[in-house]
Amino acid sequence: MADETLSIRDNRTGTEVEIPITDATIRATDLRQLGLMSYDPAFLNTASTRSGIAYIDGDAGILRYRGYPIDQLAEHASFLETAWLLFEGELPTPAELEAWEEEVRLHTYVHTNVTQLLDGFRYDAHPMGMLLGAVAALSTFYPDAKEIGDVESRRLQRVRLIAKFPTIAAWVFRHSRGLPYVFPRNDLDYIGNFVNMTFEIGGVHEPNPVLQRALEILLVLHADHEQNASTNAVRGVGSTQVDPFSAVSAGIAALYGPLHGGANEAVLRMLDEIGTVERVPAFIESVKGGDGRLMGFGHRVYKSYDPRAKLIKRVADDVFAQTGLNPKLEIALELERIALEDDYFVSRKLYPNVDFYSGLIYQAMGYPTDYFTVLFALGRLPGWLAQWEEMLSDPEQKIARPRQVYTGYDERDFVPLAQR
Ligand code: CMC
Repeated sequence: MADETLSIRDNRTGTEVEIPITDATIRATDLRQLGLMSYDPAFLNTASTRSGIAYIDGDAGILRYRGYPIDQLAEHASFLETAWLLFEGELPTPAELEAWEEEVRLHTYVHTNVTQLLDGFRYDAHPMGMLLGAVAALSTFYPDAKEIGDVESRRLQRVRLIAKFPTIAAWVFRHSRGLPYVFPRNDLDYIGNFVNMTFEIGGVHEPNPVLQRALEILLVLHADHEQNASTNAVRGVGSTQVDPFSAVSAGIAALYGPLHGGANEAVLRMLDEIGTVERVPAFIESVKGGDGRLMGFGHRVYKSYDPRAKLIKRVADDVFAQTGLNPKLEIALELERIALEDDYFVSRKLYPNVDFYSGLIYQAMGYPTDYFTVLFALGRLPGWLAQWEEMLSDPEQKIARPRQVYTGYDERDFVPLAQR
């Protein structure tokens, strides 16, 4: 028996059991000795895995990847360096980073049939719907991706996904604008290539290094966030041993929702709806009255200021110095000011999250509102893949298949149609 234990007495029968406590956690399966299940809709207090990738202290507002504080990574690391860290567990050496960047560069081309797939979407198709479909379609181009038991094959699919995702994301952007697709360029770095594929017109694009670095920081800030809804979707779908393109497309679907990655888009729509600073107090009152939510506020884990939101506010200053102030910033700042003083939000520990300010920056950079979540997906991809790999290497993981408490009818006889 472990050093730390929990004694449970079942008052229905008088049976007493002692179950081990490890890492302040008990195993739900230990309750089977009493014929009990644990009931935890929405995983409010259930760990679905052991993980060594991201650490969050929600009360202290701390986020670390592989032990490194998020602010240090945002300041010093490139996005590909961060992705390597998430996959390999350590920061790359200069030689490893160079080889990794080169390998990614050599895989950025996407089969041109994918452009035909994108052409099939209507002109006003939502970018996340297109991204979801195109990434899922990649599994049909790489049937070898089914070899999920093969370490080298898994590594190759990871490289493919990291390399091709910006190309597809940029093509989705071009489709929405009715612009011709731009292909990857080997003389550009990861971020430069993505920005060029989105914004180039007539073979010309003048790169802005400040905006590119700002975008890179945003991607680093989004790269992983432990067992969030989309990562849980990737792990859950991946636990069936499907290929990683299909598993990642499940993550994209989960991220699309307004309570998750779709919140950055919802924030901008909310700011548009509010319209002027004068209307902020009335809007706050309507939220408190139960009429909708203050989008970009609140978090399942953070019960203090989201550390990513703090860093994003700093990035916003750099970006707006280049692009001029986003007029909606004033409304956002006023919303934050009032909410942080209002007992409704204070008592529920609702603070700005990563999505509150990111949309304002993306908009200033020239991305349309319905494209913001695609940028979130691009950032989160390394996290999804690192978590997928960790799940497959974890001997405790099996197909994710929750139990239920049945609340339906007892057995009853079929009633013929004519008698109903
Ligand atoms: N505005 C107003 N009230 C809120 C908000 C909000 N944004 N978020 C939570 N509440 C209230 C909620 O009504 C509840 O009040 P009561 O106890 O009186 O019923 C209480 O706070 C607890 O909320 P909950 O829904 O039980 O909390 P949760 O952990 O299930 O939800 C959340 C977390 C992020 C889904 C939620 O805070 C929310 O809907 N926020 C707005 C959407 C958003 O910004 N999402 C982005 C999350 S961060 C990045 C990401 O994951 O993509």
